[in-house]
Amino acid sequence: MDIEKGEYSHFMMKEINEQPSVIRRIIGKYFDENGEIKKISSRIFKEIEKSDRIYIIGAGTSMNAGFIGKEMFEKMAGIPCEVHIASEFAYNIPILTEKPLFMFISQSGETADLRAVLVNVKAKGYRTLTITNVRTSTLAREADNYVEIHAGPEIAVASTKAYTAQIAILSILAYMVSDKHIDLRKELSKVAISIENIIDKKDYIEDLVKEYLTKRNCFYIGRGIDYYACLESSLKLKEISYIQTEGFAAGELKHGTIALIEEGTPVIAIISQRSISKNTRSNLNEVQSRGAATLVISTKAVKEAGDQIVVDDVYELFSPILTIIPAQFIAYYAALQRGYDIDKPRNLAKSVTVE
Ligand code: AGP
Repeated sequence: MDIEKGEYSHFMMKEINEQPSVIRRIIGKYFDENGEIKKISSRIFKEIEKSDRIYIIGAGTSMNAGFIGKEMFEKMAGIPCEVHIASEFAYNIPILTEKPLFMFISQSGETADLRAVLVNVKAKGYRTLTITNVRTSTLAREADNYVEIHAGPEIAVASTKAYTAQIAILSILAYMVSDKHIDLRKELSKVAISIENIIDKKDYIEDLVKEYLTKRNCFYIGRGIDYYACLESSLKLKEISYIQTEGFAAGELKHGTIALIEEGTPVIAIISQRSISKNTRSNLNEVQSRGAATLVISTKAVKEAGDQIVVDDVYELFSPILTIIPAQFIAYYAALQRGYDIDKPRNLAKSVTVE
């Protein structure tokens, strides 16, 4: 995976396409032939196991991956977990538990907002773990331990393969301290294949973007882990197409924001969780009746007639690794159709090393 675009017109397209091989590389790095986890030190295992609450600290896409990690630590391993915006946490530390573990998620490992927190909590004697794509980075070096995501160099400013790699790593850490009720290696292998199936549909997604993304604004709506996927989906779209996009809790729309819905407003629903799919669909009907142009990204288990993008069923906590792929393509094609610089969007840097 060198730092050339190769056959791709943009690094972002290359990096979206690399995601299946990144997941397979992670499987190779962190599982032995019996499906047991390897190369994660017992020190890290003990740090996670003995903590009474995990505080995930991140920014942007890495924070959004952290929200999926929260679901995994809580639902797979029964460890309470909070996610915090690094720049907020640094200057407004909440009341902490007795044995917190601070987990810093950062593709570059150089984000100043995260380092401000790391310096602060280390000075207080708390334990720290960094999850990063750069093992020689500041955040890897200064934390007590680090875990590498092995995504390979990510050049496009809009993060794609680092997001899905971070989620895969978080699933391994949560699985390590869980009752191992799933075959994680098998589930991750299924995810890699399912991502390939979505990549095969990218031309169809390009057509959907032409048809639906015709306005200056857009909403992604979802509930639970789908809501967290909406946060990352909306960040992708706004940061390279400059369409004002919000990732919104579907049930919260009616408490004010639905006032923004008018004829043709694009609303994209992400629906993967069986237990709440009907609730999200009723929220979708609410915006449809007010003129929204709706698009659904769903998994096979909850799909309904008319859903435009249906992805494979995987272990429910992994659905964001799949539902984000169409969202990455939606962002890519929206920017392409607008003629913007996809790999280097305005006002942004790949690594934000100032607070
Ligand atoms: C995401 O597409 C952006 N490039 C940005 O939000 C990024 O995720 C954020 O600045 C955090 O960077 P890091 O993962 O290197 O810490």
